[in-house]
Amino acid sequence: MSLSRQQIQGIKNSWKSLRGIRPELIADIFYSKLFTDNPRLRKMFPADMKQQYMKLMDMLNSIVLRLDNPGQMDDEIKAMAARHAGYGVKTAHYKQVGDALLWTLKQGLGDSWNTEVESAWIACYDLLAAAMSGRSQ
Ligand code: HEM
Repeated sequence: MSLSRQQIQGIKNSWKSLRGIRPELIADIFYSKLFTDNPRLRKMFPADMKQQYMKLMDMLNSIVLRLDNPGQMDDEIKAMAARHAGYGVKTAHYKQVGDALLWTLKQGLGDSWNTEVESAWIACYDLLAAAMSGRSQ
């Protein structure tokens, strides 16, 4: 991954300021937005989403914490990419998920959301989505 120091700091700070919100609530808002905008995706996920909420939030947390040392996540991201291919995830889905994630962060961050934070998260998500979907940069 190649994000600037400033982008990494912006992502980390904004992630920290979400700490006051329960992770399950953030995940709930994210999946509600994802499934409202893309109803067909709902059936790809389990009926009971409780576990999924925590898995997603834990993974995002690990990724954000390791942004300074992205190599540490390479194996994990590769394995996650392979599992996602097995779930039937296609390249086009990454845009849908990215839009819902950005929207959720924006709601959660309120006044702390600005164009720098937004472009840092977009750059970060693009790198992650490229690594997971096998899309080259
Ligand atoms: C790029 C960002 C993404 C991250 C960080 C992420 C993270 C995760 C994590 C941590 C899990 C738990 C199981 C596992 O690790 O394999 C998971 C499961 C899953 N994800 Fe993702 N994911 C991403 C993108 C997507 C996209 C684009 C889709 C397409 C709709 C998707 C669909 C799914 C599905 C269907 C499951 C499995 C649910 C189940 O059957 O238990 N994910 N994801």
